[in-house]
Amino acid sequence: MKVLVTGAAGFIGSHLAAKLAQRGDDVVGLDNFNDIVYDSERKYGRAQTLAPFANFKMIQADITDRERMLTIFAEEKFEAVAHLAALAGVRNAVKYPALYVQVDLNGTQNLMDAALAAGGVQNFVFASTSSVYGNTQVVPFVETDPCDRVLQPYAAAKRGAEILGHSYHHLFGLNFTVVRFFTVYGPSGRPDMMAYLLAESVTKGIQVPLYEGGQMYRDWTYVDDTTDGVVAALDRPLGYEIINLGRGEPTLLRDFVTMIETLAGRQANLINKPKPAADFVLNQADISKARRLLGYDPKVSVAEGVQRFWEWYAAKAP
Ligand SMILES: NC(=O)c1ccc[n+]([C@@H]2O[C@H](COP(=O)([O-])OP(=O)(O)OC[C@H]3O[C@@H](n4cnc5c(N)ncnc54)[C@H](O)[C@@H]3O)[C@@H](O)[C@H]2O)c1
Repeated sequence: MKVLVTGAAGFIGSHLAAKLAQRGDDVVGLDNFNDIVYDSERKYGRAQTLAPFANFKMIQADITDRERMLTIFAEEKFEAVAHLAALAGVRNAVKYPALYVQVDLNGTQNLMDAALAAGGVQNFVFASTSSVYGNTQVVPFVETDPCDRVLQPYAAAKRGAEILGHSYHHLFGLNFTVVRFFTVYGPSGRPDMMAYLLAESVTKGIQVPLYEGGQMYRDWTYVDDTTDGVVAALDRPLGYEIINLGRGEPTLLRDFVTMIETLAGRQANLINKPKPAADFVLNQADISKARRLLGYDPKVSVAEGVQRFWEWYAAKAP
């Protein structure tokens, strides 16, 4: 299968591209290597690790460049799209709301239009986020939740793209599966996310805010489990579906901190702060739909995943 992976120089996209290339798919990665959320060197480094695959190639391009997307799709003739490119992160979205909507909503539309114009795309899988659930009282989060009370423009743009995908499915028959990710972590993880910040704190003493004294729950999901779910979604055109890809067992943030401190043998340098308005107190996925439709079965416990993350960080992190 010839697959486009957007955001292939990103954390999850690079893991996904490697998994697809390993199983023999013809994989094209696309990324603009921006340094808006974090440094681009890290992204070029991930691209280097993908370069040895003979069935992988990377295109440097911006999904907001509509003409370029139309040209790339016409030339490459993709059979499936895994669309992970995005400006991610809830707090940055408060600083750059227009940019988030431009990339995460309009950029997604450009890809859908390019897929339809080129033809041949049998399945379009869109990476969304648990942030679309906002402060819902329905816990665990279930896909039937209306998700119309989001807390910041990142979630709004993602939710908008999910809904736009439905209209493209309805009008033009595009198979469109939304996969909602829940606090993904693992080797090569994002430096702006909690696991990495804590690792920096226990090794370099960097001060990290601990919101609500760590009394927040996150459904930490190991990156291999997430990418297994994306591959399963790519392999099964389903019309239009929204599917949670969490672990389904949230961990208290304070306990997550303790796991990293124990592995490092040192305390993190934490400063207690109230939760920012853009953030949520808890995320927890109901994953029964993913189990049923995708055969999704997350395997890596948080204890095991944190250990693997820590081994990677201790050995390789710059
Ligand atoms: N990491 C998580 O916990 C998490 C949770 C929920 C959803 N997600 C979603 O998963 C996807 C991957 O996230 P990630 O954590 O790997 O983030 P990431 O920032 O590491 O990866 C995103 C990639 O998209 C690229 N990109 C951004 N704007 C682009 C543009 N205009 N054109 C081309 N490429 C562009 C970036 O350069 C980056 O390499 C994103 O869609 C994100 O919203 C992630």
